[in-house]
Amino acid sequence: MKKLLLSGSSGGIGQAVKAAAAARGWSITEINRADYENPAPLAAVKTDGPFDAVVFASGTCPVRPVAQTSDELLTDTFKTNCGLFLRLMREILTHKAYSAQGMNVVAISSVSAVEGWPGGAAYCASKGALSAMCRAMDSELKSKRISVTALEPRYVKTRMFDQCAGRMGMPAEKALAPSVLADEILRLAAGVIFSSEKITPRDEASGNRQ
Ligand SMILES: NC(=O)c1ccc[n+]([C@@H]2O[C@H](COP(=O)([O-])OP(=O)(O)OC[C@H]3O[C@@H](n4cnc5c(N)ncnc54)[C@H](OP(=O)(O)O)[C@@H]3O)[C@@H](O)[C@H]2O)c1
Repeated sequence: MKKLLLSGSSGGIGQAVKAAAAARGWSITEINRADYENPAPLAAVKTDGPFDAVVFASGTCPVRPVAQTSDELLTDTFKTNCGLFLRLMREILTHKAYSAQGMNVVAISSVSAVEGWPGGAAYCASKGALSAMCRAMDSELKSKRISVTALEPRYVKTRMFDQCAGRMGMPAEKALAPSVLADEILRLAAGVIFSSEKITPRDEASGNRQ
C-alpha cells in the first residue's frame, strides 16, 4: 500500500486526489490550513512517514490589477503558493520522511507559470517561482531517489476556477473535471512516468497544454 502525504485536501483538486488515492487503496495523510497556521512542526510528517508520494495542492489565486497589487499581496501569495511547499519539503527532509525506495512529489503549479493574464501579476509570479523551485529540488534530491514535478494545468472546475477564471469570463465547459486531473496526478505520484518527461495534462478538450 502506498503512503500519500496530501496538502490541500480541502480544495477541489485536493478532494479529487484524496478520492482517487482512496479508490486505489493508498493510505492518506492530510495537511491543511490549520496545520500550516500552527508554527510548530507539522506533526503528521514525523508520525505518519515515510511517504511514497506527496501531492501539494494548496494554493491561492488573487486577481488584482497591477496598480492594486501591494507588496503585502505579493508576499502573501508567495508565502502560500511557494512558502508552504518549501516548508512541507523541508520538514519531510528533516525527518527523513521519505521511503528508501523513492518518493514522487507532485506540486500543482499552473499554466500561469509560463502564461500571463490581466490581474495575475502576483499569481503568475508565484507559480513561475513554484515551477522553478520544483526543478531545483528535483535536481538536488535525485540522489535520495526523490523526484519533484510541477504539474501546470490550465482550468480545473473548482472553487478557485469559480472565484478567479470563472469570474473573468472563462467558460466553465473549458475547465477540466478535478477527477480527470487527479488521475494524472496519481500517475505521476505513483512514478508511472518520470519527471524528466514533459508533464502536461492530456485532456485535449480542456485546452490544456499538450
Ligand atoms: N482550479 C484551477 O483552474 C487551477 C488551475 C491551475 C492550477 N491550480 C492550482 O491548483 C491548486 C489547488 O487549487 P484548487 O483549484 O483545488 O483550489 P481550491 O478549491 O480553492 O483549493 C485551494 C486549497 O488551498 C488551500 N489554501 C488556500 N489558501 C491557503 C493558505 N493561506 N494556507 C493554507 N492553505 C491554503 C485551501 O484551503 P481552505 O479550504 O482552508 O481554504 C484549499 O485546500 C492551487 O495551487 C491552484 O493554484 C488550479
